[in-house]
Amino acid sequence: MRISHVCLAAAAVCAAKGASSPKLTSASDWAEAAQRAEEFVSQLTVDEKIGIVSGGYRQPSPACVGSIGGIPRLDFEGICFSDGPAGCSRSDLVSVFASGITVAASWDVDLMFNRGVALGEEFRGKGAHVHLGPSSGPIGRHATGGRNWESFGPDPYLAGVAMNASVLGIQSTGVQACSKHYIGNEQELQRTSTVSHDGTVTEAISSNIDNRTLHELYVWPFANAIYAGTAGIMCSYNRVNGLYACENSATLSILKEELDFRGYVVSDWYATHGTASFANAGLDIEMPGNTSAAAGPHYFGDALLRMVQNGTVTPDRLTDMAERVLRPYFLLNQDEGFPTLDPSSGAVFLAYQLGHKAQPHLGGYPMLPARNVRGNHKELIRELGAAATVLLKNVNNTLPLKNSSEVGMFGNAISYPTVGSTFRDADKYPEGYEYGTVDIGGGSGTVRHTHLVTPLQAVQRHVESYGGRLQVVMDNDDIADGRLRTIYPVPDVCLVFLKSYASEGFDRPNIELSWNSTAVVESTAAICPNTVVIIHSPGVVTLPWADNENVTAILSAHYPGEEIGNSIVDVLWGVTPPSGHLPYTIPKTLEDYGPPIFNLTTRSVSADEWQTNFTEGLMIDYRHFDANDIEPQYEFGFGLTYAKFKLEGEVDLQVRGTLSKTAEKSKGTAPGGLKDLWTEVLTVDAQVKNSGEVDGHAVPQLYVAFPQNTTPAQTPAQVLRGFHKIFIKAGETSTVRFSLLRRDVSFWDEKSDQWVIPEGGFTFKVGFSSRDKAALQTTASLL
Ligand SMILES: *[C@@H]1O[C@H](CO)[C@@H](O)[C@H](O)[C@H]1NC(C)=O
Ligand SMILES: *[C@@H]1O[C@H](CO)[C@@H](O)[C@H](O)[C@H]1NC(C)=O
Ligand SMILES: *[C@@H]1O[C@H](CO)[C@@H](O)[C@H](O)[C@H]1NC(C)=O
Ligand SMILES: *[C@@H]1O[C@H](CO)[C@@H](O)[C@H](O)[C@H]1NC(C)=O
Ligand SMILES: *[C@@H]1O[C@H](CO)[C@@H](O)[C@H](O)[C@H]1NC(C)=O
Ligand SMILES: *[C@@H]1O[C@H](CO)[C@@H](O)[C@H](O)[C@H]1NC(C)=O
Ligand SMILES: *[C@@H]1O[C@H](CO)[C@@H](O)[C@H](O)[C@H]1NC(C)=O
Ligand SMILES: *[C@@H]1O[C@H](CO)[C@@H](O)[C@H](O)[C@H]1NC(C)=O
Ligand SMILES: *[C@@H]1O[C@H](CO)[C@@H](O)[C@H](O)[C@H]1NC(C)=O
Ligand SMILES: *[C@@H]1O[C@H](CO)[C@@H](O)[C@H](O)[C@H]1NC(C)=O
Repeated sequence: MRISHVCLAAAAVCAAKGASSPKLTSASDWAEAAQRAEEFVSQLTVDEKIGIVSGGYRQPSPACVGSIGGIPRLDFEGICFSDGPAGCSRSDLVSVFASGITVAASWDVDLMFNRGVALGEEFRGKGAHVHLGPSSGPIGRHATGGRNWESFGPDPYLAGVAMNASVLGIQSTGVQACSKHYIGNEQELQRTSTVSHDGTVTEAISSNIDNRTLHELYVWPFANAIYAGTAGIMCSYNRVNGLYACENSATLSILKEELDFRGYVVSDWYATHGTASFANAGLDIEMPGNTSAAAGPHYFGDALLRMVQNGTVTPDRLTDMAERVLRPYFLLNQDEGFPTLDPSSGAVFLAYQLGHKAQPHLGGYPMLPARNVRGNHKELIRELGAAATVLLKNVNNTLPLKNSSEVGMFGNAISYPTVGSTFRDADKYPEGYEYGTVDIGGGSGTVRHTHLVTPLQAVQRHVESYGGRLQVVMDNDDIADGRLRTIYPVPDVCLVFLKSYASEGFDRPNIELSWNSTAVVESTAAICPNTVVIIHSPGVVTLPWADNENVTAILSAHYPGEEIGNSIVDVLWGVTPPSGHLPYTIPKTLEDYGPPIFNLTTRSVSADEWQTNFTEGLMIDYRHFDANDIEPQYEFGFGLTYAKFKLEGEVDLQVRGTLSKTAEKSKGTAPGGLKDLWTEVLTVDAQVKNSGEVDGHAVPQLYVAFPQNTTPAQTPAQVLRGFHKIFIKAGETSTVRFSLLRRDVSFWDEKSDQWVIPEGGFTFKVGFSSRDKAALQTTASLL
């Protein structure tokens, strides 16, 4: 475990308190919180209860993206919700952290946890009780989904581990995690209902998903979040099987009944479209509710009060809603001296929305200096950015770079963004701004930069430190035209930086990297036989130039946050050897990847016509490539290192006692569902040797092939069920142990509505990617 800082004090910026280990929230912690919430709610009037479950009821707070009003007579100061999931959005003097997809690419559970801790510290410092994150929805059904970068990639096991670590990290600081977006919000196009000029309503897209796919793929990471103790879950904009996710009693009861979730379900902002049908299906809070006269319609508040008065929503349900909202507040002791709100947060955002000329008309939002909550988080951001960088190609040991006297830097993705410290006009410019590095995507999850080390700054600083010369061309059109007239001599190494922007609100228009990326690489490579390409992308992109003979190395760093320049310099010059692995598959073409974005915009449609059937079931990403025998450009789990790792000896499998087919219900449930599902049923041990010359981090991965003849059709050929990131010195060997829980070797049986371990032979395969030809395997029946 690396050093992490836990802060349970009320101070705005937390002092380091030494190492801490993640602590799971137990069922008895929840029981105690439930009791305190029950006592508190028993003192409330009906109107006060309505205020607990309705955003902005009577007293909205402009410093939060959503708020629950306080009740002074009971010393309750209210609850402030702020956007994540990669930093405290809409605020100043905060850090821009690595995005979810970057975090997943690190495959490093300690760094995932430490990022959660640092995020939590910043929210706490700003007085925000709720961090709206982490995200594992969208999971990434579509290569070009606009919000994929916010989540941990399309493998539910990896995403589940990241959800667990993130929730534990965030909540260790006393800040609530609100895991999102539940569920099936896989595309941005028509994600919510729209009203045309003549007032006709077109309903949101409906993601039609069968129960097995829900359980084994889309719900899976949310089960981890609940297991870890997530305070809240945000229901998404879209419909699921015909009903809005926030009024869908079938999917909401998976949370509250099957998974024994004790906290609240809050609607995504403006995802509530009705009162009683939503409250009775299981929605506990409407957000943002009544924020201002200008805001959209809202359905809780006084409307909910009337429904309670005439019995359409029972008083018991209202009490349950209020208690659920308050349980996490007591669970995390937020009643015991939580920092006050930083009032600058509202002003920062209004200045951006309306401009400084409009500011004088906004009485009540003075430009107060912001509270600095960044601490030393930039060190962790730099470390994680480097640890998550994936080396895809490295011909003839081009990397790590030597201190070459002539270095070139090419492309429009290297400088400070010409638009300034934050970008919120993605709806007008879906490819983003032309000039500037991209370290975070757009929409509600974007974060304002207080600090940004660009690739240009960091490379320049390094090259100057040893007396080298740097030649720079930033104009992609000029590079693409191939003449490169200003370059002389041809550099020893040419660093080409490519980018692709993505934002909430729309899906990516292109699968290739933007701004003439292919022409930029090919033109550079034509004159420079040592071309190194660095990618800052939101996830799946195609690399049609990957096999170009002069492209000697490729690094994919995703959206690593504000230390983007330092992180990449650390990797390029070998201070931090690359150890990231792909958390998704890189296809050769978009068509290879699987289902396209569902798109009916070419014709007029009936209100209910946006319906997409998830007929591919579990077969997304590598499962789809395996099932259809498609050769990827780079497979899931792939990543090169400077060290050389290999597996030695045999894989050792130990099954714990005699297993029953299904979980023992007599052992009861706890947050996460049946307790027996979370017990270890077997271990797999393997020996990893570093046979190279340099030390490094290995990421051995365990893939499980379920028996095909005793499982339903459409069972994937293999699924990830374990991984470790371990440091091994040159010449040394380490034993890694994968611990598998009952859930890991079960499938969801639709006939009996439960998890079942199938009869027949399982294969357990350990390798360094999903298609590692040197993987070791063993086969066993478990029953
Ligand atoms: C909405 O909030 C405003 C300002 O706080 C208040 O005047 C109004 O009554 C509220 N409306 C509803 C329906 O609660
Ligand atoms: C969640 O994290 C805790 C703390 O690291 C760990 O003990 C537990 O095994 C994790 N659980 C899962 C299901 O990942
Ligand atoms: C999922 O299972 C539940 C419980 O058996 C059933 O009511 C529901 O119709 C199923 N949903 C789908 C989409 O098949
Ligand atoms: C309850 O009140 C709501 C809102 O006024 C109304 O729409 C609904 O029909 C009423 N229901 C009953 C059972 O009276
Ligand atoms: C890699 O090394 C081999 C053998 O030395 C050489 O033939 C080849 O040209 C080199 N490739 C590049 C891209 O430098
Ligand atoms: C490259 O230069 C840096 C900074 O001047 C120095 O620390 C490093 O040792 C040099 N690396 C090599 C391989 O010479
Ligand atoms: C790509 O390059 C061509 C030729 O240089 C230029 O005409 C075009 O505008 C460029 N497109 C973009 C998106 O930069
Ligand atoms: C690679 O570089 C060599 C030497 O500069 C050049 O002759 C060749 O055309 C280049 N290849 C490509 C594909 O650009
Ligand atoms: C949807 O289709 C329209 C019309 O062909 C096209 O302009 C748009 O780019 C498509 N959107 C997505 C996200 O595929
Ligand atoms: C989705 O499935 C339903 C029921 O089988 C079918 O009627 C509908 O046409 C399908 N929709 C699409 C877009 O394929």
